[in-house]
Amino acid sequence: MLIDGHGRKIDYLRISLTERCNFRCQYCMPEKPFSWVPKENLLSFKELFMFVKIAIDEGVTKIRLTGGEPLLREDITTFVKMISDYKQDIDLALTTNGYLLGDMAQSLKDAGLKRINISLDSLKAEVAAKIANRDVLDKVIYGIEKAIKVGLNVKLNMVPLKNINEDEIVDILEYAMSKNVKVRFIEYMENRHANESLRGMHGREIIGHILKKYDIKALGREGSSPSFNYKILSTGYEFGMIDPHKHDFCENCNRIRLTAEGDLIPCLYFDEAMSISKAIKAKDIKKVGEILGEVLKNKPKENRWSENDENLSTRAFYHTGG
Ligand code: 5AD
Ligand code: SF4
Repeated sequence: MLIDGHGRKIDYLRISLTERCNFRCQYCMPEKPFSWVPKENLLSFKELFMFVKIAIDEGVTKIRLTGGEPLLREDITTFVKMISDYKQDIDLALTTNGYLLGDMAQSLKDAGLKRINISLDSLKAEVAAKIANRDVLDKVIYGIEKAIKVGLNVKLNMVPLKNINEDEIVDILEYAMSKNVKVRFIEYMENRHANESLRGMHGREIIGHILKKYDIKALGREGSSPSFNYKILSTGYEFGMIDPHKHDFCENCNRIRLTAEGDLIPCLYFDEAMSISKAIKAKDIKKVGEILGEVLKNKPKENRWSENDENLSTRAFYHTGG
């Protein structure tokens, strides 16, 4: 079992398969100038899988594939199948912008993927295009509908932004309700790669919009999830709020992150990381285990994320997997 330096059980691994993305969401990455990590610096699926096996053998029960946009990584269904074949009952999930999902949903499901989180920031084509800096809405909606149809467990993510998609909070809630999938509203997290002029919304402001139309009840957090759940009283529908401005989910944190280059990151909002790349390439499993132990020992008690200018996070979400 993996236990960190603060006694927390770590059973959730997030793997960022690529930092590349076909969107340029204003809250995530600049349009340019831009340089990607060269492909030859990435760990192959075989190499990543060496770590996955160690993690599963040590008690990891949940794995999420992220990016960048993970569906851009060539042959991703093969990797999904490698993990699923190793441990059939693993809680295997993926986070995507949905653009390429329509044509891949069935093969991902067949390969053993169980759950999928899809970003949906607007239902208006021009607003979606403004946020992602690409014309994306039709393909994203097609992706969402296909994922539901093939039987994946779908969740939607919306990042509400002042004066951009703030007026669509209830629309997106109702869209999710009509599809019978959960939506989670995510507070915008300030970072150095985002468009400086963006203004995010705090959880209570987001809830304020919903309260204008619906009576709701706070349910609380589910296990180690950073999402705080609410229920709409009239329909029983449940939605979530991810509010890192509150820092109160850290005490139950159960996760560790691996990037495509082989950096093991103990916390999204923490700048220290250790590379397992060399040890993996040398097939030195013992060394990989030692590095993992070191990273767990140093996992911070709380996130150090800050919205103040001088402490603004330099870590790119598209690199570490949001
Ligand atoms: N703030 C909040 N959420 C973000 N995401 C990416 N960047 C940010 C940010 N700066 C989230 C988006 C997307 C998921 C992959 O990560 O909601 O759905
Ligand atoms: Fe791409 Fe996701 Fe970042 Fe948008 S938030 S640019 S979809 S990685």
